[in-house]
Amino acid sequence: MTSDPAEVTVGIHDLTFATTSLCLTHEELARHTGAPVAKYHHGIGQTAMSIPTEDEDIVTLAADAAAPIIERHGSDRVRTLLFATETGIDQSKAAGVYVHSLLGLPPHIRVVELKQACYGGTAALQLACALVRSDPTQKVLVLASDIARYDLDSPGEATQGAAAAAMLITAAPGLVELSTPCGLFTRDIMDFWRPNYRTTALVDGKASLDAYLDAVDGTWLDYRAHGGLPFEKLRTVCYHQPFTRIAHKAHRRLERAAGHTSTARAIDAAIAPTTTYNQVIGNSYTASMYLALAALLDSDTDLGGDDIGFFSYGSGSVAEFFTGTVNPTYRAHLRVDAHQAHIARRTAISYAAYRELHTRALPTDGTPHEVARRTDGRHRLAGIRDHQRQYRAVHP
Ligand code: HMG
Repeated sequence: MTSDPAEVTVGIHDLTFATTSLCLTHEELARHTGAPVAKYHHGIGQTAMSIPTEDEDIVTLAADAAAPIIERHGSDRVRTLLFATETGIDQSKAAGVYVHSLLGLPPHIRVVELKQACYGGTAALQLACALVRSDPTQKVLVLASDIARYDLDSPGEATQGAAAAAMLITAAPGLVELSTPCGLFTRDIMDFWRPNYRTTALVDGKASLDAYLDAVDGTWLDYRAHGGLPFEKLRTVCYHQPFTRIAHKAHRRLERAAGHTSTARAIDAAIAPTTTYNQVIGNSYTASMYLALAALLDSDTDLGGDDIGFFSYGSGSVAEFFTGTVNPTYRAHLRVDAHQAHIARRTAISYAAYRELHTRALPTDGTPHEVARRTDGRHRLAGIRDHQRQYRAVHP
Protein backbone atom coordinates (compact mmCIF):
# COMPACT_ATOMS: atom_id res chain seq x y z
CA MET A 1 0.00 0.00 0.00
CA THR A 2 1.30 3.49 -0.83
CA SER A 3 2.06 5.90 1.99
CA ASP A 4 1.99 9.05 -0.16
CA PRO A 5 -0.82 10.95 1.63
CA ALA A 6 -1.99 12.39 -1.70
CA GLU A 7 -2.67 8.92 -3.11
CA VAL A 8 -4.22 7.19 -0.11
CA THR A 9 -8.01 7.04 0.06
CA VAL A 10 -9.14 7.35 3.66
CA GLY A 11 -12.52 7.48 5.34
CA ILE A 12 -15.26 5.66 7.20
CA HIS A 13 -15.01 1.92 6.80
CA ASP A 14 -17.72 1.02 9.30
CA LEU A 15 -20.27 3.07 11.23
CA THR A 16 -22.76 2.09 13.89
CA PHE A 17 -24.45 3.59 16.92
CA ALA A 18 -26.06 2.77 20.24
CA THR A 19 -28.70 4.61 22.18
CA THR A 20 -30.36 4.28 25.56
CA SER A 21 -32.94 1.75 26.82
CA LEU A 22 -35.63 4.37 27.50
CA CYS A 23 -37.31 7.17 25.58
CA LEU A 24 -39.79 9.97 26.18
CA THR A 25 -42.18 10.74 23.36
CA HIS A 26 -42.95 14.34 22.51
CA GLU A 27 -46.62 13.44 22.74
CA GLU A 28 -46.03 12.64 26.41
CA LEU A 29 -43.93 15.78 26.88
CA ALA A 30 -46.66 17.92 25.27
CA ARG A 31 -49.18 16.58 27.80
CA HIS A 32 -47.01 18.11 30.52
CA THR A 33 -45.92 21.37 28.85
CA GLY A 34 -49.30 22.10 27.26
CA ALA A 35 -47.58 22.91 23.94
CA PRO A 36 -49.39 21.71 20.82
CA VAL A 37 -47.69 18.46 19.85
CA ALA A 38 -47.41 19.86 16.29
CA LYS A 39 -44.84 22.31 17.63
CA TYR A 40 -42.61 19.37 18.50
CA HIS A 41 -43.44 17.10 15.56
CA HIS A 42 -43.30 19.79 12.87
CA GLY A 43 -41.85 22.97 14.46
CA ILE A 44 -38.71 21.28 15.76
CA GLY A 45 -39.07 17.95 13.93
CA GLN A 46 -38.85 15.61 16.94
CA THR A 47 -41.17 12.78 17.96
CA ALA A 48 -39.15 11.17 20.78
CA MET A 49 -35.87 11.47 22.65
CA SER A 50 -33.63 8.85 24.22
CA ILE A 51 -33.37 8.89 28.01
CA PRO A 52 -30.63 6.98 29.84
CA THR A 53 -31.29 4.58 32.71
CA GLU A 54 -29.21 5.19 35.82
CA ASP A 55 -26.71 2.53 34.72
CA GLU A 56 -26.17 4.01 31.24
CA ASP A 57 -23.64 6.76 30.56
CA ILE A 58 -21.30 7.92 27.81
CA VAL A 59 -18.96 4.98 28.46
CA THR A 60 -21.60 2.26 28.33
CA LEU A 61 -23.17 3.79 25.21
CA ALA A 62 -19.80 4.07 23.47
CA ALA A 63 -18.85 0.50 24.42
CA ASP A 64 -22.21 -0.74 23.10
CA ALA A 65 -21.64 1.15 19.84
CA ALA A 66 -18.06 -0.01 19.39
CA ALA A 67 -18.49 -3.69 20.29
CA PRO A 68 -20.04 -4.75 16.94
CA ILE A 69 -17.23 -2.98 15.06
CA ILE A 70 -14.54 -4.87 16.97
CA GLU A 71 -16.49 -8.12 16.55
CA ARG A 72 -16.64 -7.64 12.78
CA HIS A 73 -13.12 -6.34 12.11
CA GLY A 74 -11.01 -7.37 15.10
CA SER A 75 -8.62 -4.97 16.81
CA ASP A 76 -5.31 -6.05 15.25
CA ARG A 77 -4.47 -2.84 13.45
CA VAL A 78 -6.33 -0.41 15.69
CA ARG A 79 -3.56 1.84 17.02
CA THR A 80 -5.67 4.78 18.21
CA LEU A 81 -9.01 5.23 19.96
CA LEU A 82 -10.38 8.78 19.93
CA PHE A 83 -13.32 9.53 22.21
CA ALA A 84 -15.25 12.74 21.60
CA THR A 85 -17.70 13.98 24.20
CA GLU A 86 -18.92 17.13 25.89
CA THR A 87 -20.55 15.22 28.75
CA GLY A 88 -17.34 13.80 30.16
CA ILE A 89 -17.33 11.84 33.43
CA ASP A 90 -13.82 12.73 34.58
CA GLN A 91 -11.64 15.82 34.25
CA SER A 92 -8.50 13.75 33.87
CA LYS A 93 -9.00 10.20 32.63
CA ALA A 94 -10.23 9.71 29.07
CA ALA A 95 -13.58 7.90 28.94
CA GLY A 96 -12.13 5.87 26.08
CA VAL A 97 -9.80 4.07 28.50
CA TYR A 98 -12.84 2.47 30.15
CA VAL A 99 -14.12 1.43 26.72
CA HIS A 100 -10.69 0.04 25.86
CA SER A 101 -10.94 -2.15 28.96
CA LEU A 102 -14.60 -3.18 28.48
CA LEU A 103 -13.87 -4.29 24.91
CA GLY A 104 -10.66 -6.11 25.87
CA LEU A 105 -8.56 -4.13 23.38
CA PRO A 106 -4.80 -4.79 23.25
CA PRO A 107 -2.48 -2.47 25.21
CA HIS A 108 -0.58 -0.96 22.28
CA ILE A 109 -3.19 1.70 21.53
CA ARG A 110 -3.23 5.43 22.23
CA VAL A 111 -6.49 6.61 23.81
CA VAL A 112 -7.46 10.28 24.00
CA GLU A 113 -10.60 12.31 24.74
CA LEU A 114 -11.49 15.39 22.67
CA LYS A 115 -13.85 18.26 23.40
CA GLN A 116 -15.36 21.19 21.53
CA ALA A 117 -19.11 20.89 22.10
CA CYS A 118 -20.83 18.94 19.29
CA TYR A 119 -17.89 19.53 16.95
CA GLY A 120 -15.64 17.14 18.93
CA GLY A 121 -16.68 14.10 16.88
CA THR A 122 -15.55 15.79 13.69
CA ALA A 123 -12.26 16.87 15.27
CA ALA A 124 -11.71 13.20 16.13
CA LEU A 125 -12.64 12.08 12.62
CA GLN A 126 -10.22 14.53 10.96
CA LEU A 127 -7.44 13.58 13.34
CA ALA A 128 -8.12 9.90 12.62
CA CYS A 129 -7.96 10.51 8.86
CA ALA A 130 -4.62 12.31 9.23
CA LEU A 131 -3.22 9.39 11.23
CA VAL A 132 -4.34 6.87 8.62
CA ARG A 133 -2.99 9.00 5.77
CA SER A 134 0.41 9.02 7.49
CA ASP A 135 0.31 5.23 7.97
CA PRO A 136 -2.38 3.49 5.88
CA THR A 137 -1.82 0.16 7.65
CA GLN A 138 -3.33 1.65 10.82
CA LYS A 139 -6.99 1.80 11.79
CA VAL A 140 -8.51 4.33 14.16
CA LEU A 141 -11.62 3.79 16.26
CA VAL A 142 -13.57 7.04 16.63
CA LEU A 143 -16.24 7.18 19.33
CA ALA A 144 -18.61 10.11 19.81
CA SER A 145 -20.86 9.73 22.84
CA ASP A 146 -23.09 12.21 24.65
CA ILE A 147 -26.13 12.69 26.83
CA ALA A 148 -27.86 16.00 26.07
CA ARG A 149 -29.53 17.48 29.15
CA TYR A 150 -31.27 20.80 29.66
CA ASP A 151 -33.16 22.09 32.68
CA LEU A 152 -36.66 20.74 33.31
CA ASP A 153 -39.36 23.09 32.02
CA SER A 154 -36.90 25.02 29.83
CA PRO A 155 -37.30 25.51 26.05
CA GLY A 156 -34.26 23.28 25.52
CA GLU A 157 -35.99 20.37 27.29
CA ALA A 158 -37.65 19.22 24.06
CA THR A 159 -34.24 18.92 22.38
CA GLN A 160 -32.56 16.44 24.73
CA GLY A 161 -31.41 12.94 23.72
CA ALA A 162 -28.51 10.52 23.99
CA ALA A 163 -26.47 8.23 21.75
CA ALA A 164 -23.00 7.11 20.81
CA ALA A 165 -21.64 6.70 17.29
CA ALA A 166 -18.69 4.42 16.55
CA MET A 167 -16.65 4.61 13.35
CA LEU A 168 -13.70 2.65 12.06
CA ILE A 169 -11.42 4.91 10.01
CA THR A 170 -9.21 3.11 7.51
CA ALA A 171 -7.53 3.34 4.13
CA ALA A 172 -9.70 2.13 1.19
CA PRO A 173 -12.88 2.62 3.26
CA GLY A 174 -16.00 0.57 2.61
CA LEU A 175 -18.57 3.29 3.33
CA VAL A 176 -17.42 6.86 2.65
CA GLU A 177 -14.12 8.15 1.30
CA LEU A 178 -13.48 11.58 2.83
CA SER A 179 -12.05 14.40 0.73
CA THR A 180 -9.39 16.75 2.05
CA PRO A 181 -10.78 20.24 1.26
CA CYS A 182 -12.67 21.50 4.26
CA GLY A 183 -14.25 24.76 5.34
CA LEU A 184 -13.56 26.00 8.85
CA PHE A 185 -15.25 28.66 10.99
CA THR A 186 -14.53 29.59 14.61
CA ARG A 187 -16.15 32.40 16.60
CA ASP A 188 -16.07 33.08 20.34
CA ILE A 189 -19.75 33.20 21.31
CA MET A 190 -21.76 32.16 24.39
CA ASP A 191 -24.66 30.48 22.59
CA PHE A 192 -24.54 27.22 24.59
CA TRP A 193 -22.14 26.13 27.32
CA ARG A 194 -21.95 24.02 30.47
CA PRO A 195 -19.69 25.17 33.31
CA ASN A 196 -18.03 22.34 35.27
CA TYR A 197 -20.39 22.79 38.22
CA ARG A 198 -23.55 22.18 36.18
CA THR A 199 -25.15 18.93 34.98
CA THR A 200 -27.38 20.73 32.47
CA ALA A 201 -26.41 23.04 29.64
CA LEU A 202 -27.06 26.77 29.56
CA VAL A 203 -28.29 28.05 26.23
CA ASP A 204 -29.52 31.13 24.45
CA GLY A 205 -31.75 29.28 21.99
CA LYS A 206 -32.24 32.10 19.50
CA ALA A 207 -28.55 33.10 19.54
CA SER A 208 -27.56 29.45 19.07
CA LEU A 209 -29.74 29.13 15.98
CA ASP A 210 -28.30 32.31 14.47
CA ALA A 211 -24.74 31.23 15.29
CA TYR A 212 -25.33 27.79 13.75
CA LEU A 213 -26.74 29.28 10.53
CA ASP A 214 -23.98 31.92 10.29
CA ALA A 215 -21.49 29.07 10.57
CA VAL A 216 -23.15 27.37 7.58
CA ASP A 217 -22.25 30.45 5.49
CA GLY A 218 -18.80 30.76 7.07
CA THR A 219 -17.75 27.15 6.52
CA TRP A 220 -19.21 26.95 3.01
CA LEU A 221 -17.35 30.05 1.79
CA ASP A 222 -14.11 28.71 3.27
CA TYR A 223 -14.75 25.24 1.82
CA ARG A 224 -15.22 26.68 -1.67
CA ALA A 225 -12.18 28.96 -1.27
CA HIS A 226 -10.14 25.83 -0.56
CA GLY A 227 -11.15 24.06 -3.75
CA GLY A 228 -14.27 22.27 -2.50
CA LEU A 229 -17.00 20.92 -4.79
CA PRO A 230 -19.76 23.17 -6.12
CA PHE A 231 -23.17 22.81 -4.45
CA GLU A 232 -24.76 21.11 -7.48
CA LYS A 233 -22.33 18.19 -7.17
CA LEU A 234 -23.67 17.29 -3.70
CA ARG A 235 -26.40 14.67 -3.50
CA THR A 236 -27.38 15.89 -0.03
CA VAL A 237 -25.85 17.18 3.20
CA CYS A 238 -25.71 15.59 6.68
CA TYR A 239 -26.11 18.41 9.16
CA HIS A 240 -25.54 18.45 12.89
CA GLN A 241 -29.12 17.94 14.12
CA PRO A 242 -29.82 19.19 17.66
CA PHE A 243 -33.40 18.89 16.39
CA THR A 244 -34.13 17.74 12.89
CA ARG A 245 -36.01 20.79 11.64
CA ILE A 246 -32.73 22.70 11.78
CA ALA A 247 -31.47 20.65 8.84
CA HIS A 248 -34.17 22.23 6.66
CA LYS A 249 -33.17 25.75 7.76
CA ALA A 250 -29.48 24.94 7.27
CA HIS A 251 -30.00 23.52 3.78
CA ARG A 252 -31.93 26.62 2.75
CA ARG A 253 -29.09 28.75 4.09
CA LEU A 254 -26.47 26.68 2.28
CA GLU A 255 -28.38 26.90 -0.98
CA ARG A 256 -28.57 30.66 -0.62
CA ALA A 257 -24.83 30.92 0.11
CA ALA A 258 -24.21 28.85 -3.02
CA GLY A 259 -26.51 31.06 -5.13
CA HIS A 260 -29.38 28.55 -5.45
CA THR A 261 -33.02 28.47 -4.41
CA SER A 262 -35.48 25.61 -4.32
CA THR A 263 -38.88 24.89 -2.85
CA ALA A 264 -39.50 23.83 0.75
CA ARG A 265 -40.68 20.50 -0.62
CA ALA A 266 -37.42 19.95 -2.53
CA ILE A 267 -35.38 20.79 0.57
CA ASP A 268 -37.44 18.37 2.66
CA ALA A 269 -36.92 15.65 0.04
CA ALA A 270 -33.14 16.22 0.03
CA ILE A 271 -32.86 16.21 3.82
CA ALA A 272 -35.49 13.65 4.92
CA PRO A 273 -33.31 10.50 4.63
CA THR A 274 -30.77 12.06 7.01
CA THR A 275 -33.26 12.79 9.79
CA THR A 276 -35.01 9.49 10.57
CA TYR A 277 -32.77 8.38 13.44
CA ASN A 278 -32.28 11.79 15.06
CA GLN A 279 -36.02 12.47 14.90
CA VAL A 280 -36.62 9.69 17.45
CA ILE A 281 -33.32 9.84 19.36
CA GLY A 282 -32.96 13.60 19.83
CA ASN A 283 -29.75 15.55 20.21
CA SER A 284 -26.73 13.35 20.81
CA TYR A 285 -24.27 16.27 20.53
CA THR A 286 -20.98 14.83 19.12
CA ALA A 287 -22.75 11.79 17.65
CA SER A 288 -25.64 13.65 16.00
CA MET A 289 -24.18 14.28 12.53
CA TYR A 290 -22.92 10.70 12.36
CA LEU A 291 -26.41 9.40 13.18
CA ALA A 292 -27.59 11.55 10.26
CA LEU A 293 -25.05 9.76 8.06
CA ALA A 294 -26.12 6.36 9.40
CA ALA A 295 -29.76 7.19 8.61
CA LEU A 296 -28.85 8.34 5.10
CA LEU A 297 -26.79 5.25 4.31
CA ASP A 298 -29.47 2.96 5.79
CA SER A 299 -32.25 4.64 3.76
CA ASP A 300 -33.63 3.32 0.46
CA THR A 301 -31.79 6.07 -1.44
CA ASP A 302 -29.12 4.60 -3.71
CA LEU A 303 -26.00 6.65 -2.98
CA GLY A 304 -23.19 4.60 -4.57
CA GLY A 305 -20.60 6.97 -6.09
CA ASP A 306 -22.43 10.10 -4.84
CA ASP A 307 -20.76 13.04 -3.14
CA ILE A 308 -22.36 14.10 0.12
CA GLY A 309 -21.68 17.10 2.32
CA PHE A 310 -21.22 17.26 6.10
CA PHE A 311 -21.85 20.28 8.28
CA SER A 312 -20.57 19.89 11.83
CA TYR A 313 -21.33 22.59 14.42
CA GLY A 314 -20.19 22.84 18.02
CA SER A 315 -21.45 25.73 20.10
CA GLY A 316 -19.02 28.20 21.43
CA SER A 317 -18.31 27.90 18.43
CA VAL A 318 -16.36 25.79 15.93
CA ALA A 319 -17.80 24.47 12.68
CA GLU A 320 -16.58 22.56 9.65
CA PHE A 321 -17.93 21.70 6.21
CA PHE A 322 -16.43 18.78 4.34
CA THR A 323 -17.49 16.17 1.82
CA GLY A 324 -17.14 12.49 1.08
CA THR A 325 -17.85 10.04 -1.72
CA VAL A 326 -20.00 7.00 -1.00
CA ASN A 327 -18.37 3.71 -1.97
CA PRO A 328 -20.30 1.97 -4.80
CA THR A 329 -20.46 -1.23 -2.69
CA TYR A 330 -21.39 0.49 0.59
CA ARG A 331 -24.56 -1.53 1.08
CA ALA A 332 -22.54 -4.65 1.86
CA HIS A 333 -21.24 -2.92 5.02
CA LEU A 334 -24.54 -1.63 6.45
CA ARG A 335 -26.24 -2.63 9.70
CA VAL A 336 -29.80 -1.50 8.96
CA ASP A 337 -31.61 -4.21 10.94
CA ALA A 338 -29.41 -3.78 14.00
CA HIS A 339 -29.89 0.00 13.95
CA GLN A 340 -33.64 -0.22 13.65
CA ALA A 341 -33.86 -2.92 16.33
CA HIS A 342 -31.75 -0.80 18.65
CA ILE A 343 -34.21 2.08 18.41
CA ALA A 344 -37.31 -0.14 18.52
CA ARG A 345 -36.19 -1.87 21.73
CA ARG A 346 -36.45 1.30 23.85
CA THR A 347 -39.21 1.47 26.46
CA ALA A 348 -41.32 4.63 26.37
CA ILE A 349 -41.63 6.08 29.86
CA SER A 350 -44.14 8.44 31.49
CA TYR A 351 -43.36 12.10 32.05
CA ALA A 352 -43.26 11.43 35.81
CA ALA A 353 -40.68 8.63 35.38
CA TYR A 354 -38.59 10.86 33.10
CA ARG A 355 -38.69 13.69 35.64
CA GLU A 356 -37.62 11.38 38.44
CA LEU A 357 -34.65 10.12 36.36
CA HIS A 358 -33.72 13.68 35.37
CA THR A 359 -33.44 14.80 38.98
CA ARG A 360 -31.58 11.72 40.20
CA ALA A 361 -27.83 12.22 40.65
CA LEU A 362 -24.90 9.95 41.45
CA PRO A 363 -23.08 10.75 44.72
CA THR A 364 -20.24 13.24 44.35
CA ASP A 365 -18.60 12.65 47.76
CA GLY A 366 -17.19 9.16 47.25
CA THR A 367 -19.97 7.42 49.19
CA PRO A 368 -20.15 3.81 47.92
CA HIS A 369 -23.11 3.54 45.61
CA GLU A 370 -24.48 0.53 43.76
CA VAL A 371 -26.53 1.01 40.64
CA ALA A 372 -29.25 -1.54 39.92
CA ARG A 373 -29.23 -3.20 36.52
CA ARG A 374 -31.78 -1.51 34.28
CA THR A 375 -30.13 -1.24 30.88
CA ASP A 376 -30.90 -3.51 27.93
CA GLY A 377 -27.42 -2.75 26.63
CA ARG A 378 -24.28 -4.87 26.74
CA HIS A 379 -22.38 -2.73 29.24
CA ARG A 380 -23.46 -1.00 32.41
CA LEU A 381 -22.35 1.26 35.20
CA ALA A 382 -22.49 -0.99 38.27
CA GLY A 383 -21.70 1.70 40.83
CA ILE A 384 -19.18 4.07 42.30
CA ARG A 385 -16.59 3.05 44.90
CA ASP A 386 -13.75 5.23 46.26
CA HIS A 387 -14.68 7.90 43.67
CA GLN A 388 -14.15 5.31 40.91
CA ARG A 389 -16.80 4.29 38.41
CA GLN A 390 -17.29 0.52 38.20
CA TYR A 391 -18.25 -0.78 34.78
CA ARG A 392 -19.37 -4.30 33.84
CA ALA A 393 -20.13 -6.21 30.69
CA VAL A 394 -23.71 -7.50 30.92
CA HIS A 395 -24.01 -11.23 30.40
CA PRO A 396 -27.37 -12.18 28.95
P1 HMG B 1 -38.92 27.36 21.67
O1 HMG B 1 -38.95 28.74 22.19
O2 HMG B 1 -39.54 26.31 22.50
O3 HMG B 1 -39.63 27.19 20.31
O4 HMG B 1 -37.38 27.03 21.39
P2 HMG B 1 -40.15 28.28 19.24
O5 HMG B 1 -41.26 29.08 19.81
O6 HMG B 1 -38.98 29.02 18.64
O7 HMG B 1 -40.77 27.27 18.17
C1 HMG B 1 -39.97 26.35 17.51
C2 HMG B 1 -40.53 26.18 16.10
O8 HMG B 1 -41.80 25.55 16.22
C3 HMG B 1 -40.77 27.51 15.37
O9 HMG B 1 -40.47 27.28 14.02
C4 HMG B 1 -42.27 27.72 15.55
O10 HMG B 1 -42.85 28.53 14.52
C5 HMG B 1 -42.76 26.28 15.45
P3 HMG B 1 -39.56 28.35 13.20
O11 HMG B 1 -40.26 29.63 13.27
O12 HMG B 1 -38.22 28.39 13.94
O13 HMG B 1 -39.44 27.73 11.85
N1 HMG B 1 -44.09 26.06 16.05
C6 HMG B 1 -45.03 25.29 15.49
N2 HMG B 1 -45.03 24.56 14.36
C7 HMG B 1 -46.16 23.84 14.07
N3 HMG B 1 -47.25 23.86 14.86
C8 HMG B 1 -47.30 24.57 15.99
C9 HMG B 1 -46.15 25.33 16.35
N4 HMG B 1 -45.83 26.13 17.39
C10 HMG B 1 -44.59 26.58 17.18
N5 HMG B 1 -48.40 24.57 16.76
C11 HMG B 1 -35.38 26.04 20.59
C12 HMG B 1 -36.88 26.19 20.37
C13 HMG B 1 -34.79 25.16 19.51
C14 HMG B 1 -34.70 27.42 20.54
C15 HMG B 1 -35.17 25.40 21.99
O14 HMG B 1 -35.67 24.10 21.99
C16 HMG B 1 -33.72 25.38 22.44
O15 HMG B 1 -33.23 26.32 23.05
N6 HMG B 1 -33.00 24.24 22.14
C17 HMG B 1 -31.60 24.10 22.54
C18 HMG B 1 -30.66 24.89 21.65
C19 HMG B 1 -30.50 24.32 20.25
O16 HMG B 1 -30.79 23.19 19.97
N7 HMG B 1 -29.88 25.14 19.37
C20 HMG B 1 -29.60 24.70 18.02
C21 HMG B 1 -28.37 25.38 17.42
S1 HMG B 1 -26.95 25.26 18.49
C22 HMG B 1 -26.37 23.64 18.27
O17 HMG B 1 -26.75 22.98 17.37
C23 HMG B 1 -25.34 23.14 19.24
C24 HMG B 1 -25.88 22.18 20.29
O18 HMG B 1 -26.10 20.90 19.72
C25 HMG B 1 -24.88 22.07 21.44
C26 HMG B 1 -23.42 21.78 21.12
O19 HMG B 1 -22.83 22.18 20.14
O20 HMG B 1 -22.80 21.19 22.00
C27 HMG B 1 -27.16 22.63 20.91
